[in-house]
Amino acid sequence: MLTVNVELGERGYPIVIGAGLLGDQGLAARIGQEVLRQGKIVIVTNDVVAPLYLEKAVAFFADRDCASIVLNDGEAHKTLAAVDTIYDFLLSNKYDRHTTLVALGGGVVGDITGFAAATYLRGIDFVQIPTTLLAQVDSSVGGKTGVNHRLGKNMIGAFYQPRCVIADTDVLSTLPAREIRAGLAEVTKYGLIRDASFFHWLGDHAAQLVSGDPVLMAEVIQTCCRIKAEVVAEDERESGVRALLNLGHTFGHAIETATGYGTWLHGETVAMGTVMAADLSARIGWIDPEDARLIRRILEQNFGMTVVPPADITIERYLDLMASDKKTEQGKLRFILLNAIGQGAIASDIEPGQLVATLEAADRLCE
Ligand code: NAD
Ligand code: GLY
Repeated sequence: MLTVNVELGERGYPIVIGAGLLGDQGLAARIGQEVLRQGKIVIVTNDVVAPLYLEKAVAFFADRDCASIVLNDGEAHKTLAAVDTIYDFLLSNKYDRHTTLVALGGGVVGDITGFAAATYLRGIDFVQIPTTLLAQVDSSVGGKTGVNHRLGKNMIGAFYQPRCVIADTDVLSTLPAREIRAGLAEVTKYGLIRDASFFHWLGDHAAQLVSGDPVLMAEVIQTCCRIKAEVVAEDERESGVRALLNLGHTFGHAIETATGYGTWLHGETVAMGTVMAADLSARIGWIDPEDARLIRRILEQNFGMTVVPPADITIERYLDLMASDKKTEQGKLRFILLNAIGQGAIASDIEPGQLVATLEAADRLCE
């Protein structure tokens, strides 16, 4: 078991990472005493995760009054309606401010539950128990919570930190291979923006990672959580360096919204967006085209991901969707690009012609 701390003063918290944590009663007792308030627990999960892990999670909180809410699975249900389902349950059962919500699931459950916690009675505690690779390396850490709007991805939300994150690596054994790959796209992001040797290590160990090798997965989760904790401690509300964690996301979110939530997995659109960001970085002379080709090769060939975005999104549609990106400042688009492998940077003066060139070449980027 390893703990990474997110250093945010009184809002700081531990991320506990290890195998078998959900069955560890010693850990449960420590968290119960040192982290949680003495109130009731409500576990929020979905209809895919519940049959797999709800019983275990309830047993983890065995010494507490513990209830559960089971939401519909899927990105298409990451809506205010799902948040309302949580409010309905809490209000109709008179849960008070000492209640702790526990998010048991992937990034969708985590983001919805965090937002419900941020807003119920003006804020109650919550705990993240992430069950996908993507959630263990990214979404459960850092306090971005929220839901989608039909006009844009993650457009309604709040920064609200959990009280702790419990990442039990055993739960990854039931994760479909497609979801492991999607998580690896977010993992790659950390190497690309901050740690070149990690990026190259990922490429060299791709086969074991795609197969979900538990020892390597634990190493990867630790490295990503350490990087994310550092970045969030430096810039909790994304006024600077935290924006780098959005590498590939300006393009990716546009693809996710344009294709309808759930058609492509979030991590899959991040992979497409990362190749687009690498192409744009090379086009403006920030990185060598050979580096852009290497990034595509690792995502496409080593990890087996689709990196070519759907052909039916027009350039006008991309530009319209990207104009709502949360990084836009006074109508000016800002992109997270690469100065080098291992060095992300914010670009706010991209010439429209260069952006359009990347969008036009979408089916043959970095070849
Ligand atoms: P997800 O939550 O939809 O989970 C993927 C699928 O795997 C779902 O069907 C889920 O029910 C299932 N699942 C979960 N755990 C499982 C397990 N252990 N075994 C078998 N199946 C399991 O998707 P995700 O990739 O975890 O998260 C994507 C979401 O996270 C997106 O909505 C994205 O916007 C969000 N996100 C948020 C942040 C943040 O900082 N808050 C960061 C990155 C992504
Ligand atoms: N996933 C991007 C962030 O947490 O900032």
